[in-house]
Amino acid sequence: MRHDHLPPSSTTAAAIPSLYIILTTTFFTLLLILTLTTAPRSPSFHTHQNDQNDQNTTTALSPPPPPSLAYLISGSINNSGPMISLFLSIYHPRNQYLLQLDRSANQTERDALEITVQSLLGASKNVRVIGMEDYVFSSGPSALSSTLQGASVLLRLSDHWDWFINLSASDYPLVTQDDLLHILSYLPRDVNFVNHTSYIGWRESWKLKGIIVDSALFLADDSETFYATQKRHLPDAFRPFTGSSVAILILKFIEFCIMGFNNLPRTLLMYLSNTALSTSVYFPTVLCNSRQFKGTLINHSLHYASPNLLNSSNFDELIKTGAAFASPFALDDPVLDRIDQELLQRNPGKPVPGGWCLGESSEDQCGVCGETDVLKPSPGAKRLEKLLVEVLSSEATQSHQCVDK
Ligand SMILES: *[C@@H]1O[C@H](CO)[C@@H](O)[C@H](O)[C@H]1NC(C)=O
Ligand SMILES: *[C@@H]1O[C@H](CO)[C@@H](O)[C@H](O)[C@H]1NC(C)=O
Ligand SMILES: *[C@@H]1O[C@H](CO)[C@@H](O)[C@H](O)[C@H]1NC(C)=O
Ligand SMILES: *[C@@H]1O[C@H](CO)[C@@H](O)[C@H](O)[C@H]1NC(C)=O
Ligand SMILES: *[C@@H]1O[C@H](CO)[C@@H](O)[C@H](O)[C@H]1NC(C)=O
Ligand SMILES: *[C@@H]1O[C@H](CO)[C@@H](O)[C@H](O)[C@H]1NC(C)=O
Ligand SMILES: *[C@@H]1O[C@H](CO)[C@@H](O)[C@H](O)[C@H]1NC(C)=O
Repeated sequence: MRHDHLPPSSTTAAAIPSLYIILTTTFFTLLLILTLTTAPRSPSFHTHQNDQNDQNTTTALSPPPPPSLAYLISGSINNSGPMISLFLSIYHPRNQYLLQLDRSANQTERDALEITVQSLLGASKNVRVIGMEDYVFSSGPSALSSTLQGASVLLRLSDHWDWFINLSASDYPLVTQDDLLHILSYLPRDVNFVNHTSYIGWRESWKLKGIIVDSALFLADDSETFYATQKRHLPDAFRPFTGSSVAILILKFIEFCIMGFNNLPRTLLMYLSNTALSTSVYFPTVLCNSRQFKGTLINHSLHYASPNLLNSSNFDELIKTGAAFASPFALDDPVLDRIDQELLQRNPGKPVPGGWCLGESSEDQCGVCGETDVLKPSPGAKRLEKLLVEVLSSEATQSHQCVDK
């Protein structure tokens, strides 16, 4: 029972096989129109109800309304500086931001972070700094717990966002938010970007079978991890998948994980609460084992994860990836300044200028906030578009969704 004519926004199981074909076709068509018109998305192009009448010759070419993103930025002791740079480099007034410092940072550092963030952009309503937090063991259950907590806070702050993105102080963007929002606006709002595989290598298998006690979950002043000598079986009630820790996930899926509409997220959370490999397993496994979501995956997180610390010698390679984000960068590496200057046009201590910035002075263009649905994509949008077209065309010819190897 396949309905090939269902719109791409449908997530019903029957529509899954055709999702990629529709997706790819729509995306190609829209980008073609876009390439032909080339002009940046100017104020006259946006779809505002009042403007619809007097813009009736251009509405056919009007870009779809931009989505909005919810970012969780996590950091540890002495990370406030890099977290602020990351925050400014991905700031856009349409988005929501939650910055969380774990308990290794003291209250002074947390307060300073909050004050700095608020002073940089006035009393922005779309930015929060989480006060109390726990210690976090980087890939273990406490990190997963802190991510889910952050995601649920973001849901409570607003449910007017489309995608959730989890970043750390060692991540950095390679495109502007205008680029990312622009490209995402051409995609259905129900696809999840997760690099995932069912191949569990010996290293991962060893970690999944091992039992740990992540004391950061329950001890206030200690973050030691204990390893048990016993091993357990790999699960067979569900199929484990692993993926990258950065993913771009839709609001409905985050709700599915947090609100307990289904038993799977909870069961998996319990299973993962004593393994050292919780974070890279949780989202891909929940997605691939749920009927509702397994057809929504795009096997790429639009993120470039390097095996080594990235520095200036990687700059050209980074541009070539076309990715929206990359990691890990050494905190304060000079390559970040180069990314700010050459890719983001960002001045120190200021957000990345975008279509919403109406300030006159070149120093502080974003001091005056204009309409937030006006985007001015930069060459980064072209790079991201190229990457997505590659990813989508390989998905269309051969499905890479949750394939069991
Ligand atoms: C819409 O466009 C037509 C020509 O295509 C023009 O005659 C008409 O006046 C326009 N309407 C408005 C409200 O601008
Ligand atoms: C954090 O910074 C302080 C002061 O600069 C320094 O003394 C401390 O060693 C740093 N802590 C870590 C974990 O890097
Ligand atoms: C808090 O942490 C900062 C940075 O690590 C350090 O400079 C400061 O002395 C600490 N303050 C207290 C009260 O421990
Ligand atoms: C995707 O994930 C696999 C393992 O899960 C990893 O080996 C690969 O480098 C990742 N690719 C990207 C582009 O992040
Ligand atoms: C979210 O990001 C933090 C910081 O990088 C990381 O420790 C955690 O593993 C990530 N969470 C998930 C579920 O990937
Ligand atoms: C960049 O890192 C590589 C190792 O990943 C190192 O060999 C190289 O010397 C570094 N380059 C600079 C400019 O720091
Ligand atoms: C997803 O892509 C990675 C390479 O980035 C690949 O190793 C993996 O097998 C793919 N996953 C599926 C389910 O095809």
